[in-house]
Amino acid sequence: MAKKKVVKFKESVGLDLGTHSIKLVHLRKLHSGFKLLNYEIKPTIPEGLEYTPSDLSPDRYAPVLNGMFKSLKINPKKVKHLVSSIGGDNTSIKQIKTIFLPEEELESALFFEAKKHLPISGSDMLLDYQVLNIEERTNNMNILLAATTKDLLDEHSKILSDAGVAPGIVDIESLAVANSFALNSYVEEGIYIILNLGAHKTNMVIYGPQAKFFSRDIPFGGYSFTREIMKSNNLGFEQAEEYKKEHGIVKEEKEGESSSLLALNIAEKSTAEQIVMEVKRSLRFYVKEAGNSDFRKILLTGGSAKVKGLPLYIEENLNIPVEIYNPFSSLEMPEKFKDKQDPQLALALGLAMRPE
Ligand SMILES: Nc1ncnc2c1ncn2[C@@H]1O[C@H](COP(=O)(O)OP(=O)(O)OP(=O)(O)O)[C@@H](O)[C@H]1O
Ligand SMILES: [Mg+2]
Repeated sequence: MAKKKVVKFKESVGLDLGTHSIKLVHLRKLHSGFKLLNYEIKPTIPEGLEYTPSDLSPDRYAPVLNGMFKSLKINPKKVKHLVSSIGGDNTSIKQIKTIFLPEEELESALFFEAKKHLPISGSDMLLDYQVLNIEERTNNMNILLAATTKDLLDEHSKILSDAGVAPGIVDIESLAVANSFALNSYVEEGIYIILNLGAHKTNMVIYGPQAKFFSRDIPFGGYSFTREIMKSNNLGFEQAEEYKKEHGIVKEEKEGESSSLLALNIAEKSTAEQIVMEVKRSLRFYVKEAGNSDFRKILLTGGSAKVKGLPLYIEENLNIPVEIYNPFSSLEMPEKFKDKQDPQLALALGLAMRPE
């Protein structure tokens, strides 16, 4: 049998192109584990600028990305292992069960399955799958189906090539979120919920070594928190953004008053409430579908994991311990990075750590 060529990478770059910011993590592979060489977080929207999400153009990425490679002194042409991700509406991932099928039949059968299970239209769909295991007793196969559209992948590749980067490996965002946790933390059992709180969405991922994989995007994130603060405190976008970074959703403590959550005067639900409601709904669905409710922890990642008061709010409303996830806990860190372990980098780090 011909030997498979295994390319061993020495250095890797993980690239998370978020709606709001680009996160880049540069790692060196060690004999066992990784060392952080460098990282950077750069907004793609000028700080403080009030914007409408639908007006954002994909052209904004390449110049920012180019600048990041320059400031980190990385020659993108020399990076052998570059991993980035795509996410959002036109990506989907789902664990399904089928009867045992030989490899030759699997792909076409899965294409039909995927059409049933995934909210992506047929002709434009790109499909990938991974056989997780074959159940001994029933001979059924558990399969992870991942799908996206050709248009989305083309748009993503264009951003990278405009910045002088070869696309390399492209992963689905929610799978990479799970990886950033799975590759960094050793857990044998139980179910973990990861909430990657971005600017416009929150990737919710349910992961456990023995548990059924689940993911969905909740359409709320940092942008909604800022909008809410604008309304409730009568502030402009820039001031609201600053207020959010300083106080989060905890009201300023006044004398004789204990701190409480920002309250809107209108009957609208707050962003924190909406997120909790959606997580609850998904957990209920998961328990019903997977028959397992062994939830151990909720781990928060993403820029909006830093919203003060949010971790406690989620913990109190879902009754599951909440932790801001430190993605760097198992990495070798140079002294200068020791105090900069930022949950906003979790996804980029998960991408950089991805095996070939
Ligand atoms: N210290 C902080 N406190 C509160 N919010 C913060 C802080 N730092 C960043 N943010 C918020 O985090 C968000 C950006 O996070 P992140 O980089 O994870 O999003 P993104 O990946 O660009 O967006 P998306 O995942 O929705 O595409 C912004 O809304 C920003 O205001
Ligand atoms: Mg993001």
